[in-house]
Amino acid sequence: MNTFNPIDLLFSGMGKLGPGDNVHTLNVLKLLPRRHFGLIVDAGCGTGRQTIALATKLNTLVHAIDVHEPFLADLIRRAKTARIEHLVQVHCMDMKDIPDVFQRIDLLWSEGAAYNMGFSNALITWAPAIDPEGFVVVSEMSWVREQIPDKVREFFLSGYPGMQSIQQNLMAIEKAGYTILATYTLPREAWVKGFYDILGKRAKILVSHPDPSVRSLALETIKEIDVFAHSEDSYGYVFYVLQRI
Ligand SMILES: C[S@@+](CC[C@H](N)C(=O)[O-])C[C@H]1O[C@@H](n2cnc3c(N)ncnc32)[C@H](O)[C@@H]1O
Repeated sequence: MNTFNPIDLLFSGMGKLGPGDNVHTLNVLKLLPRRHFGLIVDAGCGTGRQTIALATKLNTLVHAIDVHEPFLADLIRRAKTARIEHLVQVHCMDMKDIPDVFQRIDLLWSEGAAYNMGFSNALITWAPAIDPEGFVVVSEMSWVREQIPDKVREFFLSGYPGMQSIQQNLMAIEKAGYTILATYTLPREAWVKGFYDILGKRAKILVSHPDPSVRSLALETIKEIDVFAHSEDSYGYVFYVLQRI
């Protein structure tokens, strides 16, 4: 019997594995007070859209970390196409182990991935690996309004019960030993263009897949996109631009 990896079927070949866009990655980069960084780590890099944007802009080696090997293989292919393979080093590892592998990180970047460890837990875990006065830029889905439609609240109660408001995240950041330099919220089109527009079409095809785990992921994805369409901007993807203190 064939086995299918639902993640690969849904996401393979996608340039974006989460909401975002190079223009926003580079806008956020500009919010940092420096342009030169020593050790740079991209945690939960996926297929590396932001890895390539950062490495190209900074002309500095980026260590790209992910647990899913096929995403890293895709990133290497993309870095070669962009002729910057010398600026990208991939590591197939769990981002919770970053402090065991890297010391004195000057810039730790993580787009749409920290939630896998829990936002506060990720910041606390990574802190010992960050250079004194080094930077952490992490994006996290956050409640941005107090009025939340019932359908949306219900979905995230099971989908991401740990989701916090911006205010709650700012408190968690200070507790974890960082100072907040800026926040930046992605506009709606960064969720749709090149992400939900592709994912939605793939998911609709995969709902009739023979493997139940593939069907289940496809249905969950369709629901997530529908919730986003009815979100009334109650949540957003927020970049937190931080400095270690
Ligand atoms: C939503 S994707 C975002 C990928 C990429 N940053 C982007 O925005 O396109 C989250 C990524 O985190 C990776 N991931 C999940 N848990 C992880 C862990 N514990 N350690 C390292 N990577 C992890 C997944 O494999 C996936 O590539």
